[in-house]
Amino acid sequence: MSSKKTTPTRALDAVHKPSKEFSSKARIPSMAAYKKLYKESIEKPAVFWAREAKELVWQKPWSKVLNWKAPNAKWFEGGKLNVCESCVDRHATGPRKNKAAIIWEGEPGDKRVITYGQLHKDVCRFANVLQKNGVKSKDRVLIYMPMVPEAAVAMLACARIGAVHNVVFGGFASEAIIDRLEDSGASVIVTADGGWRRGKVVPLKPVVDEALTKCGQVKRVIVLNRCNHEVQMQPDRDVWWHDEVANASSKHTAKGFDSEHPLFVLYTSGSTGKPKGILHTSGGYLTGTYSTCKYIFDMRDDDVYWCTADVGWITGHSYIVYGPLANGVTQVMYEGAPNAPDFGRFWKIVEEYGVTIFYTAPTAIRAFIKAGNHFPAAHDLSSLRLLGSVGEPINPEAWNWYHEHIGGGRCPIVDTWWQTETGSILISPLPGATPCKPGTATLPFFGIDAAILDDAGNEVKAGQDGRLVIRKPWPSMIRSIYGDKERYKKTYWSDYPGIYTAGDGARRDKDGNFWIIGRLDDVLNVSGHRLGTAEIESALVSHPAVAEAAVVGRPDEMKGQAVAAFVTLKSTHTESDALLIELRNHVGKVIGAIAKPDDLHFAPALPKTRSGKIMRRLLKELVCTGKISGNITTLEDVKVIEALQSKLAK
Ligand code: PRX
Repeated sequence: MSSKKTTPTRALDAVHKPSKEFSSKARIPSMAAYKKLYKESIEKPAVFWAREAKELVWQKPWSKVLNWKAPNAKWFEGGKLNVCESCVDRHATGPRKNKAAIIWEGEPGDKRVITYGQLHKDVCRFANVLQKNGVKSKDRVLIYMPMVPEAAVAMLACARIGAVHNVVFGGFASEAIIDRLEDSGASVIVTADGGWRRGKVVPLKPVVDEALTKCGQVKRVIVLNRCNHEVQMQPDRDVWWHDEVANASSKHTAKGFDSEHPLFVLYTSGSTGKPKGILHTSGGYLTGTYSTCKYIFDMRDDDVYWCTADVGWITGHSYIVYGPLANGVTQVMYEGAPNAPDFGRFWKIVEEYGVTIFYTAPTAIRAFIKAGNHFPAAHDLSSLRLLGSVGEPINPEAWNWYHEHIGGGRCPIVDTWWQTETGSILISPLPGATPCKPGTATLPFFGIDAAILDDAGNEVKAGQDGRLVIRKPWPSMIRSIYGDKERYKKTYWSDYPGIYTAGDGARRDKDGNFWIIGRLDDVLNVSGHRLGTAEIESALVSHPAVAEAAVVGRPDEMKGQAVAAFVTLKSTHTESDALLIELRNHVGKVIGAIAKPDDLHFAPALPKTRSGKIMRRLLKELVCTGKISGNITTLEDVKVIEALQSKLAK
């Protein structure tokens, strides 16, 4: 990046070249170096990816780098590895033994430093605990935890024994747990009494208990005591984490599993009401997360890296647990909210531990802008050398603020585009090479053949919008939707034969940079989190008062997108403010607080086509602009939209 300080008057679209100082030390120090390696990675992917994968620990070498029969990929076929060995054992038994793996801070201010040596013991103990409790290779384990090191320990212990973890974000409600339990068939849950958030305990175990009243398949619940919060323990089913590990051996042999052995299932929203279980496997996923950390975050042994995501999302899987640990880096993990006790908390942590690489979401940056510059200004942030952004397009205003107020005008910003399905970052600047323009994720990572196509499958010209696709397989790609190969094929591979469709609209500028426009399907991106409109609609209609619901997104300054819902009541119920509140809370109860509609409107009827399909396009236009200017000839009853329009105008 330019060493010149950004000023508020500077053009929002200025190009920021990496500074000589940063480039001279970076792994990829120039665009020429990027282009050379990119060319090799596209022309000879097997050569490029084999070199990357060889930096991990393999118990048996692979016989073939890629076996590709679209849409089924087998990476490092024939190879055997234990993912945990590359992330933990190799550091614990080498010079990094006493290096901090995780520097953890709880929201109340309690602190722990876990070395690689200690992490190894913790993971081995918990692997033994899982096995003692009957967990076998390929069994699914649901993890519902706060942001504590034990969440990572539980994930790594699953990987160690070949079990498949399914982490569920701690903000999701009991119905979401039920859906995931039923779909994944997990019979063991790892949870905690609760976690600290904004000075209060957010209970977790009671949510699990509620889910288990309706779902009988779970045989064992292992409960971490994080907050000394009172919980009900059901005899014969529930056990305490501390009791279990107290008697467990810290020795455990890491058996090798096939490179394509399932590693985890993570559910994400799609365009239907049912979340999709995204299945990732071992060797390829680890290679992708390892390699992107190495080149995009340019991770070094003396770095202190901090990704502020929750382990419940893909970012937490790939860029808290697997990628950084495979690189043997020291990382910060923080339990609580960014504004606890105030918006200075993150910057206090950066100063306290000398964070060098900081990775967060645009929605958080916008909240910091609103809170005021005095919060970061009160802290010494000079340890930072690299910043990252993920989850949604970063608007140029937020980019420039991040660059100036957090990065001191000196830190490159890597705007990383990827998805739960892609497993690792696919489009991003390389910090020592790529000239950045605020708002673009810039160029594809090594081995990623990204393109933008029109409906007929032709590549669009610079400046034109189209669908973002990936034309070649990559190691950390989704392997299937859990238990539903057909849905996998249909969702990602049916638009153009043999080509992965991301579901995002995008355009390229004349320099080849990718500008992500947003989702093309019925998926909202609220504060960087994916929510299906159909999921929220089905939560609303599960309330006894609701006959029909339609949900659309509208732009929101802070969250990127906000949720706007229209609800038609059954004739037995009448509109009231109390019912509006009840319906919002109902969505919170069914899915979780993140899905609560920002705007909820009662609608006497919903706009429909003659064949009865709800015309969400019109509702979207209405909430975004306040009026309808598009084509309404297919509308069954024009009066419906007129009524809504005048209602919204009030
Ligand atoms: O629309 C894109 C947006 O987030 C979607 C993926 O969401 P999820 O699977 O929850 O993963 C989020 C963390 C990787 C994408 O389809 N998205 C993600 N990163 C960016 C982005 N949009 C623009 N710029 C980004 N850097």
